[in-house]
Amino acid sequence: MQGNQKTTEFSDIDLSRWKDYNDVILDSLWLLGPRDKTGPHVGDYWGNFIPQIPYQVLTRFTKRGEVVVDLFSGMGTTLIECKRLGRAGLGVEIDPGVAGRSLERINTAENPYNVPVAVLVGDSTTTLTAKRVRATLKEWGGAAADCIILHPPYHDIIRFSERDGDLSRVSTEAAFLDKIGLVARHAYELLKPAGFMALVIGDKYVDSQLVPLGFMCMQRCIDAGFVLKAINVKEILNNERGKGKNGNLWKYRALVGGFYLFKHEYVLIFRKPAARGKRAPKGASP
Ligand SMILES: C[S@@+](CC[C@H](N)C(=O)[O-])C[C@H]1O[C@@H](n2cnc3c(N)ncnc32)[C@H](O)[C@@H]1O
Repeated sequence: MQGNQKTTEFSDIDLSRWKDYNDVILDSLWLLGPRDKTGPHVGDYWGNFIPQIPYQVLTRFTKRGEVVVDLFSGMGTTLIECKRLGRAGLGVEIDPGVAGRSLERINTAENPYNVPVAVLVGDSTTTLTAKRVRATLKEWGGAAADCIILHPPYHDIIRFSERDGDLSRVSTEAAFLDKIGLVARHAYELLKPAGFMALVIGDKYVDSQLVPLGFMCMQRCIDAGFVLKAINVKEILNNERGKGKNGNLWKYRALVGGFYLFKHEYVLIFRKPAARGKRAPKGASP
């Protein structure tokens, strides 16, 4: 941090220049434009999020040198952004093949701030995985994550693998939500007090009925102890998941069935309460 720079305790954004940060979103409607395909970001993994999402989260809710944990790291979009922005990045991915391929990709990203980045193969619902995450954080010199990102499967919308523990093959919604609850509780334990967590999730239709999966998962995070800070609605561009080339057919089905095609998902922002006795800084609410 430079001499007269004034920041919050959770980001490097210089408050004396707050009007200059045109690329930092402060609105709840996220119109991020087309996918950033620069560097190792390719977008060829079905179900990966656009790099602008972790960019926004990291820029607003972490400082350089801090540690970000992504408990569903997939092809490593978050970890690539970590390297670019100078944050240590630890991912957990259940599929060893995906974890290996993501590491190959992450390793091609430049590392101008020389931060550590790693991917653990594991099931993020388990205590064992949480212990392994904590052990890695310790190796890196810290006791807890500074920020956590969750981008789980949207239940069974995309089947990621046939592995036991893969959240995309859990048979019922109730069981899926219970597993999200477990992940939220581990995330809560792994995160430092007053740290931020982002959950990226969408809704789904089952039997012509909308299932508000996003809000259901949101509630599980609140139940785990998190404070809800934002329900951000992110526009989905050219990515009508699961509809493939049948986009027009889906439009017809929507007309006939009286439903709407998803053009949005959520980026939900949570904060772990500060440690007892430590008050939030003045002007920090809501
Ligand atoms: C929506 S994708 C995340 C994509 C990631 N954000 C990216 O940009 O590449 C969800 C990932 O979670 C993984 N996964 C599913 N169940 C898991 C579990 N129980 N623990 C850890 N990873 C899991 C899937 O294999 C998949 O790669």
